[in-house]
Amino acid sequence: MHFGCAQLSLLPTPNLMNIPAHSRDLIYADWTLIEPQFDPKQLRARETIFTIGNGYLGTRGSFEEGYPQALPATLVHGVYDDVPVIYTELVNCPDWLSLVVSVNGERFRLDHGDTLHYERQLDLRHGLLSRSVRWRSPTGKTLDLQFERFASLADRHVLGLRCQITPIDFSGTIEVQSSLNGYPENQGFDHWEQIDQGKLAQGIQGVWLQVRTLRSHIELGMATKIAVIGTDESFQVASPPGYPTLTTAFSAIKGQTIRVEKVVTLFTSQDTELPAQAAQDKLADLPAYAVLLEAHQQAWDAVWQHSDIEIEGDRTAQSAVRYNLFQLFISASAHNDRVSVSAKTLSGLGYRGHIFWDTEIFILPFFTLTQPAIARSFLTYRYHALEGARRKAAHSGYQGAMFPWESAATGDEVTPKTSIPTDPYAEAVRIWVRDREIHLSADIAYAVWHYWQATGDDNWLRDYGAEIILDTALFWMSRLEWHAEQERYELCGVIGADEYHEQVNNNAFTNRMVQWHLEKAVAVYEWLQHTFPVGEASQNENRAATLTQKLQLTSEHRLSWQAMIAQLYIPYDAKTGLIEQFEGFFQLKDIDLNDYEPRKQSIQAVLGIDETNQRQVLKQPDVLMLLYLMRDTQSVTDHPDALQKNWDYYAPRTDITYGSSLTPAIHAILAANLGATADAYQQFMQAVMVDLEDSRGNTEDGIHAASAGGVWQAVVFGFGGIQLKDDGPVATPHLPPTWTRLKFKLHWRGTWHSFDLTPPSAQVPDIQGFIFDVDGVLTDTAEYHYKAWQRLADEEKLPFDRQANEALRGVSRRESLMHIVGDRQFPEAALQEMMERKNRYYVESIETITHKDLFPGAVELLQELRKAGIKIAIGSASKNARAVIEKLGIGNLVDAIADGDSVTRPKPAPDVFLYAAKQLGIEPAHCVVVEDATVGIEAAIAAGMWTIGIGPSDRVGAANIVLPNLIGVHLTELRTKLDQTLKV
Ligand code: BGC
Ligand code: BGC
Repeated sequence: MHFGCAQLSLLPTPNLMNIPAHSRDLIYADWTLIEPQFDPKQLRARETIFTIGNGYLGTRGSFEEGYPQALPATLVHGVYDDVPVIYTELVNCPDWLSLVVSVNGERFRLDHGDTLHYERQLDLRHGLLSRSVRWRSPTGKTLDLQFERFASLADRHVLGLRCQITPIDFSGTIEVQSSLNGYPENQGFDHWEQIDQGKLAQGIQGVWLQVRTLRSHIELGMATKIAVIGTDESFQVASPPGYPTLTTAFSAIKGQTIRVEKVVTLFTSQDTELPAQAAQDKLADLPAYAVLLEAHQQAWDAVWQHSDIEIEGDRTAQSAVRYNLFQLFISASAHNDRVSVSAKTLSGLGYRGHIFWDTEIFILPFFTLTQPAIARSFLTYRYHALEGARRKAAHSGYQGAMFPWESAATGDEVTPKTSIPTDPYAEAVRIWVRDREIHLSADIAYAVWHYWQATGDDNWLRDYGAEIILDTALFWMSRLEWHAEQERYELCGVIGADEYHEQVNNNAFTNRMVQWHLEKAVAVYEWLQHTFPVGEASQNENRAATLTQKLQLTSEHRLSWQAMIAQLYIPYDAKTGLIEQFEGFFQLKDIDLNDYEPRKQSIQAVLGIDETNQRQVLKQPDVLMLLYLMRDTQSVTDHPDALQKNWDYYAPRTDITYGSSLTPAIHAILAANLGATADAYQQFMQAVMVDLEDSRGNTEDGIHAASAGGVWQAVVFGFGGIQLKDDGPVATPHLPPTWTRLKFKLHWRGTWHSFDLTPPSAQVPDIQGFIFDVDGVLTDTAEYHYKAWQRLADEEKLPFDRQANEALRGVSRRESLMHIVGDRQFPEAALQEMMERKNRYYVESIETITHKDLFPGAVELLQELRKAGIKIAIGSASKNARAVIEKLGIGNLVDAIADGDSVTRPKPAPDVFLYAAKQLGIEPAHCVVVEDATVGIEAAIAAGMWTIGIGPSDRVGAANIVLPNLIGVHLTELRTKLDQTLKV
């Protein structure tokens, strides 16, 4: 985007570094994610969010000019190196971004001088990251800078970066320095040895670098050249060791734009024998930047043709869903079947590039059903990793192949044994998942089977998939324990999907997955015997015979598997349909998670590891995960209400907010399947925003890839209600209330199936109830609240004023106090006292409220609604709502009151409105909420209700109808307007 000077000269000139920004500040346009201002506090999280990539490598969204607090990283698939404690990690590769612009010796940086305009955009459709900045140097020289970068999807070894520079109010010397930085680090750990570097041959303005990992001896070659358009200056080469640099200085003329185009090539010894040479050769042959960009954009068009999801009626969800798919796609490729996508993709150093069940269970369905070649490549990675899995099985005293909980280059176990605390006096914590969380082998079999079902790819199953399923089945055979007394097979001493319970017997999830796995092993064995009978000796058919020979499989194995399937124990109650997460779970101490709200950390962090082990509290879905995965097959019980029963039991005991980011998407799917669409939508938004809003505070470590994969599944299997039947996928949609259309495609057994789903009843809304917020809607107690907070703040000498008060609109008492105290630490008792004091001041002041304090138009509307037979409720965060309603003299017009005491979770959680609707006995879809606060509108949307926003659009613009106040508002007009919103 370019901007005109005249327009900009009208802009005020604040120093943007001083303006606090919140993570919600991202703007969601259909295909574009926009960051309208720069907030240094969010530097690292935003680096993750603005990661670009092409499935071969990922580059975090660090700035070209570099900042000391930044965490720049370029991660190339498969480039691992050894490291203490965690064994191996993806290595941060040389940084190709470095481009420093200086004006008369003053270096462009956002933390010096004045940033007059800033905007960063990620174009999801074409994989292009750009940034526009108008910057005034400390001595007053103003420049426009327009940066842009891409990792070519058309040629994965090519990267492009362009910077356009326009002096606005001066003519003078501009210097540009472009480097390859050979000293990247992994959080202080250095993996590289410098081998060589130099200048490009044949007069090309360019340099190259050759480095090698210290222990895994992977070589990497990078080369770069520069073109400057708009001046004829040439570049000088400087070659400090490990930092080849090109520098130019030119006279720039006021108003004239100079373009600097940096192109980079990259190879490793995993691609070719001489990577540095390959990088130079490729660079020499490359066409101009614009041509490369064009090819890159065309490649992206092809991706979205198959993998896009279109949502109408909810622009934030539309854009955020595309964002999640974008991040998945750039971490994946079908070109290298020795690598797979890790828990944090190629966007950050968290989990060190290790590969978990996240890939097969959460991420793979998106690829299997829209980009099957990529799914095949990831599954073939597990085939190559079988050697490591066999070593793990043998080491642990078992047969066959036992996949490691965390995997990297070889398939050997790389989960750390302990986590080393930073406190020098604390004990190391043993990490048991590597020994006990064994369900992964069944999860991989599950993904293999579903890939085969979806694609009908018999050749791949014969050559790769069958070996995975069968050799892991041999492992289960040796791992299952026969208990003669009970005459059953058991699996003891395991960790299930829920990692809060670290040593349990007969975890229902694990046992049923293993049983299912053995069922499929029998089926695959029979399929091989039947499809490729021994004695018919074409080469392919030999592959089947060789396999049974290699694994020494006999028909006795099949018989044993069948016995194990029949006698594997799974704890559940046939009468109630309730599955017990593991033997003894129901005997553990129960928990009410509401008792711990509000909190900012996991329940395990609150209670400690041991106490959490003793409680009926889950880090993430376990029984519910099982019911989800087994949705198309017999789960454990054939009780007709099994899903509802288990949902009602386990969902409230799950640590959704801070347990595992894997939870919300799965809960969204199940809630949607159960018809609880409002709840489903709220969970879904938690999943889709986990990184965009950095809601867990760890986005800087990388994208939550499992959540992103879960988002796709939530849209398709949850809201779309897709079931995969033999003759193709079938939809039973449960769309969120605001979604007017949902479109996507699925590839099933060689054919594309397009879905274009709309809500069943796009007709005049049937409004039966109105729920009014109080403050700012019916009366202005906001002023009384403000005065009470101000008095408290003054007494406590806390900075506070009318402007700061704006952030408190619609916010609960506790959250408001947290805003005011900011970073200052107070003991809980002091906080309690302050909340009480503020409330006292407030209650004193509302004593003076009378009927006259009602806003104009309010009584008229309430009376009209009542006459029309509409029920009326109050839905307010305030604990004094009831008192205020009485003082206002409208108690007789109101049927129900939901206030700050009715629910625990404050807005934007939908609870207060859902509570009000329940009191009225009306379904959420037949209720209208009238609100003046952004969080209130969000809460109402999450509740699945119609919304009327009172106030300016920038505050309540997400509502179905926006009104300045209640004067002259009539029910008939509201009905017509709501009806129109359905039709757009
Ligand atoms: C979850 C695991 C997950 C891992 C990596 C853990 O917190 O409990 O289920 O595989 O993170 O995302
Ligand atoms: C996760 C495990 C993981 C371990 C070590 C824990 O926080 O819950 O799934 O294996 O860290 O990386």
